[in-house]
Amino acid sequence: MAKREESPIGIAGGSSSGSPGGQRGSATRRAVRPRRNRRSDWARRLVCENVLSTNDLIWPLFVVAGKGVREPVASMPGVVRYSIDEAVKAVSEAAGLGIPAVALFPYTEPALRDERGSEALNSGNLVCQACRAVKDTVPEVGIVTDVALDPYTSHGHDGLLEDGRILNDETVEILAEQALIQARAGSDIIAPSDMMDGRVAAIREALEDAGLTDTQIMAYTAKYASAFYGPFRDAVGSSGTLTGDKRTYQMDYGNTDEAIREAELDIAEGADMIMVKPGMPYLDILGRLKESFGMPTFAYQVSGEYSMLCAAFERGWLDRDKCVMEALTSFKRAGADGVLTYFAVEAAKKINDA
Ligand code: PBG
Repeated sequence: MAKREESPIGIAGGSSSGSPGGQRGSATRRAVRPRRNRRSDWARRLVCENVLSTNDLIWPLFVVAGKGVREPVASMPGVVRYSIDEAVKAVSEAAGLGIPAVALFPYTEPALRDERGSEALNSGNLVCQACRAVKDTVPEVGIVTDVALDPYTSHGHDGLLEDGRILNDETVEILAEQALIQARAGSDIIAPSDMMDGRVAAIREALEDAGLTDTQIMAYTAKYASAFYGPFRDAVGSSGTLTGDKRTYQMDYGNTDEAIREAELDIAEGADMIMVKPGMPYLDILGRLKESFGMPTFAYQVSGEYSMLCAAFERGWLDRDKCVMEALTSFKRAGADGVLTYFAVEAAKKINDA
C-alpha cells in the first residue's frame, strides 16, 4: 500500500473560528461537515466511489513492417511503432500486467496506399499478420482492430473519395469485407472508426453470414471531428496525406443530442459496446450515453490528449504520476467501463505497485 501523507491542515476544524460573513454559525450548520469523510486515509478509501483497475484498460499500439523495430513517434513521446515480433513481446508484457485487451493500428508503407485503400482487403496485410501473431503467442489477450480506410488510402480519408465527396454506401461494403478479414485473422473486437452511416449493421450482417457470431463490435459511436487526433495521424503516417478534414462524416463538436441518435443506431444495428472519442474534452457525452443506454461504454483518451499531458510532464509543469491516474479515473467517474489509453502500461504498473 502506497504511503499517503496526512497533513495537519487536513484535520477537521482547522478554521473554525467564526463563520463566513462574521456571523455566529449555528450548531446545525456546523453539524454537517463533509470533511469528516475526508479526514483520514482509511475514511477516504471507504467512501471512494470510483477506482481505476487494470481491467479497465485497453492499450492501443502501432505496428510497422520489419523485424526488431521500435521506432519512436515524434509527436507522442514514449510511444513507438513496433514490428510484429516486438509487438508480440510488448503485448505479452501488457497481458502480464493484467491489461485485458490491446488495439492494433498499422503504419502502412506509402507504396501500399492507394485511392481505394485496397490494402485494407489484403488478408496478409500488416494488421492481420499482427492479429495472428498476437493470437498465437498471447491468446489470453483480447484484440481490437480498427475498421476504416484511412491507414490505407492515399488521400488519408476513412472512406472512398470521389469528386471531393466521401461515398457512404460503397465504403460500407468495403468496411464489411475489411471486418471479416480482420475477424478471420483473429481480431476479437471489430471497432469501426469510420463514421459511415449503416456500417455497424453491414458489419454485423457480414459476420453473422460468415458464421463469426461471437465477434464483438465496439462502435466508435460518438466520434467527433477533432483536432486532438493530430499525433495519431503522424503515427499511422496519414497526416501528410490527408486532404481537407473529416467533418462530413465525423461529428461536430458542438453537438450532444446527435450522439444519442448515433448510439441508438449503433445499438440497434448490433454493437456490443459503444465508445466516445476523444475522451477528456467529451466527458459530458460519455456520462450522457452511459446514463441513457446502460451499454458497455468506453472512452478513447486520444493521441492529442496523451501528447499534451506528456508535453507538460516534460517541462515539469505537471506531475506525471498524479495526472495520469487522475485523468484516467475521470473516465470511470463519468461512466466509462474502460478506457483506450496510450498510458495503459504505465497505469497498469502504477495500479499493481499501489
Ligand atoms: C482512424 C482513427 C483515428 C483515430 C483512431 N482511429 C484518426 C482519425 O479518425 O483521423 C484517432 C486515435 C487517436 O488520436 O489517438 N479512423
